[in-house]
Amino acid sequence: MTPEEFFYHVFEFLPRQGPGCTGATKKVYSYLSDLPGDAKILDVGCGSGAQTRDLTSLSAGTLTAVDNHQPFLDSITSWAGKDGFSWRIKTVCASMDALPFEKEQFNLLWSEGAIFIIGFEQGLKAWKPLVKKGGYLVVSDAVWFEPNPPQELVQWWEKEGYIPKTEDQLKEQVRNAGLRILATYRLPETGWWDNYYIPMLARVAELRKTHGNDPACAAILDSCEHEAEMYRKYKQYYGYTFFVMQNE
Ligand SMILES: C[S@@+](CC[C@H](N)C(=O)[O-])C[C@H]1O[C@@H](n2cnc3c(N)ncnc32)[C@H](O)[C@@H]1O
Repeated sequence: MTPEEFFYHVFEFLPRQGPGCTGATKKVYSYLSDLPGDAKILDVGCGSGAQTRDLTSLSAGTLTAVDNHQPFLDSITSWAGKDGFSWRIKTVCASMDALPFEKEQFNLLWSEGAIFIIGFEQGLKAWKPLVKKGGYLVVSDAVWFEPNPPQELVQWWEKEGYIPKTEDQLKEQVRNAGLRILATYRLPETGWWDNYYIPMLARVAELRKTHGNDPACAAILDSCEHEAEMYRKYKQYYGYTFFVMQNE
């Protein structure tokens, strides 16, 4: 198994591939007051579809779930079939920086914990044309909650290749992308632990038994544990914020 395959081997078996929870998805969805009942929804960077499933329950509309890792999409196809949702969910394997859709197709574009992959402002600018006028975009991304975060934390983020911004800086990027900000909502701490770090740490412990002696695999397992440790230690300094926006 290559390191990349092993990385997916860790994450394919988790309930979600990033921080989030049903309660937060529900809360943020409740801000979308004018969303039609039969909304066309696009979920970008959907992973195995934890939030896709929540959106399917919250809306009576149709969902298009996009990811560039086909096994995640296969997992969605599988649970959608079992839950009787197949006719409402379509999966598309594509890259989020080249989404293969016509302009102004969707009433809502949703993306949890994935926009960092192409960058917040760049992602909003690329995705905005796909949303109908008056339609909504909702994304969650990492932000600083406090000024002057500790050096150890900043260095860890730098090593990850990504430095969070403040909520105000991201709101400025929302405006630069020509969108109106309607609301923000901070993911509660339970959204980090219950369906993300707790199952991830259990999976890491399990995989240590079978792959712990392989240095490349051990390095991936170490970095997963380290990420959870950073959050445990420094959660008052950073977190995920949902940005609720409208395409005017
Ligand atoms: C942090 S995970 C979040 C997954 C899911 N939204 C969740 O919260 O559980 C990011 C997702 O983006 C996908 N991804 C990575 N690069 C991508 C790209 N260029 N285009 C589309 N999806 C991508 C990954 O496969 C992964 O499923």
